Amino acid sequence: MRQMIIGNWKMHGLLESGTDLAREITSAIEPVLAARDVVLAPPFTLLGHLAPLLSRHAVRLGAQDCHAEPEGAYTGDISAVMLADLGVSHVILGHSERREHHHETNAGIRKKVQRAREHGLCPVVCIGEGAHQREDKRAEAWLTTQIVECLPPEFDGILAYEPIWAIGTGVAATPEDIESRLTFLHGALSRHLETDDKSHRVLYGGSVKPEDAASILAVSGVGGVLVGGASLSAKSFLGIAQAGLSLAP
Ligand code: PGA
Repeated sequence: MRQMIIGNWKMHGLLESGTDLAREITSAIEPVLAARDVVLAPPFTLLGHLAPLLSRHAVRLGAQDCHAEPEGAYTGDISAVMLADLGVSHVILGHSERREHHHETNAGIRKKVQRAREHGLCPVVCIGEGAHQREDKRAEAWLTTQIVECLPPEFDGILAYEPIWAIGTGVAATPEDIESRLTFLHGALSRHLETDDKSHRVLYGGSVKPEDAASILAVSGVGGVLVGGASLSAKSFLGIAQAGLSLAP
């Protein structure tokens, strides 16, 4: 399965700085695309502006959230239909920052997942345990609940395993920890979805940096990485996207 590298810009980037970053990335991305899929998820305000540039370079356009309804009286919200209309192909759902700051629930995320699919978007659903669950050895039960409650039985999108203690902390999970979690998650997914083991893409996210990207991307069962902070510099994002590939000079 081709691996996927997603850059989650979060709430960063203005017209000029976002365009410069996207230009720098796209100008050097072509060799990577022979082996991996690349998605950039800028803030909503830059989606329409960056769509033509990314599409010319076969880089996919991602959004960082969508509403569960296609339209209506929801001031300030953006629907999956609106995203699809702009050329968005992927949407990150259930990110831990949205769960924390917007009180998103598993049930609400599930509705968004269904709506995204209905409008042709590929959902990238984030799950992950916090430090407490990890210390109390409750991580697997927590992750299983997130899978069961967030993913409808017909789910065919992407899962992103993002341990909360690793996001934005500079401390990524070790390749050994990622491998054992991914083995667990592939099993939990195949039980919940009643499909073959490993048929789904499961990404790792949380403080991925160019230095450790090759070892993370070499982990068995890893479908790619979701990159936050390090996606805000073209050099570090490209370093991650190219990690472990033997690219022609
Ligand atoms: P980080 O963020 O790479 O800055 O840890 C990852 C994410 O939140 O998706």
